[in-house]
Amino acid sequence: MSQNNNNLRAKIIGTGSCLPEKVMTNFDIEKLVDTNNDWIIERTGISSRRIASKEEAASDFAFVASQRALESAGVKAEELDLILVGTFTGDSPFPTVGNILQARLGAVNAVGFDVSATCSGFLYVLSIVDAYVRSGRYKKILAVGVDALSKVLDWTDRGTCILFGDGAGAAVIEPSENSSGLIDVNIGSDGTLGDILYLPGGGSRIPASKESVERGDHFIKMNGNEVFKVAVKTMERISIEILENNNIDPSEVSIMVPHQANVRIIQAVAKRLEMPMDKIYINLDKYGNTSAGTIPIALDEAVREGRMKKGDLVLMAAFGGGLTWASALYRW
Ligand code: ACO
Repeated sequence: MSQNNNNLRAKIIGTGSCLPEKVMTNFDIEKLVDTNNDWIIERTGISSRRIASKEEAASDFAFVASQRALESAGVKAEELDLILVGTFTGDSPFPTVGNILQARLGAVNAVGFDVSATCSGFLYVLSIVDAYVRSGRYKKILAVGVDALSKVLDWTDRGTCILFGDGAGAAVIEPSENSSGLIDVNIGSDGTLGDILYLPGGGSRIPASKESVERGDHFIKMNGNEVFKVAVKTMERISIEILENNNIDPSEVSIMVPHQANVRIIQAVAKRLEMPMDKIYINLDKYGNTSAGTIPIALDEAVREGRMKKGDLVLMAAFGGGLTWASALYRW
């Protein structure tokens, strides 16, 4: 649990997001692998996703999302003192997306770095932001979640290529002493289950070689059934835990912004919390699973659609490969 050692809360003062222009529908995927639109919708809730072009990389989406977040916050890039990016598909191992954003935005007074926690990346970032804000260390923070999973997908594997998309979301955050802001954030991991969802190649164990590329080591590998079971259990558990730890009844939650992996996972969590589906923000039908991008993209869309009202209690929960998970409670 986070250290509630003072009254400072991390408050979001602006949001932004950016999706690639190219839309890939289930019908487009039917032409690549043995699948069909009805199966994908029924098993996942996904109808289409956005896919980066050959030239585009994660930082391109992160950059535009960040510009939009800064604009909506009315903050100049030079005012930032910290840029934190949740991603595992940065443009290259280094410079990090945090470094690239610092340069492209002209955030000359900020330090920028990446946090690798797959789909939980943005909430891991929030947990670090929370600690820095409470310590008084940083005062104008850009928090970003971005992934470009299309670049690490095996487009001949129907078990994975139907699920994911690309995109970025960003939030500008500053300390607040009033009641709005981040109430609590928890992160967790279980490395013993690392083999149910992983990306073997491209690191120091299996660096890129002709053989590794031929074997497809640079693509995501997943045991979908196992991931599904653990995801449901974990998302339910962490949502309940964070509410209980803060003496909040699920009925008090105004809106839940869950990681967008599979609508059936989200429905199971909603059922467990006895939360009506109209309280749950869902956009995976349009974008699929954008990994670290899902929660900040959804937050930005919810804000721009007027779904977030002052005083609203927002519950967020995420789950990803590693395994990683995280939950957060936020007072809008
Ligand atoms: N199209 C058509 N048929 C398919 C497809 C497809 N794309 N994929 C699998 N099938 C078939 C299977 O071969 C199987 O056929 P069989 O019964 O003849 O053997 C049947 O459909 C059922 O397969 P399951 O794998 O049991 O299908 P399931 O209902 O579990 O759905 C899915 C598969 C969608 C992958 C699901 O398991 C899932 O969503 N898992 C969680 C994945 C996830 O969220 N991963 C991201 C985590 S986030 C991160 O860190 C990146």
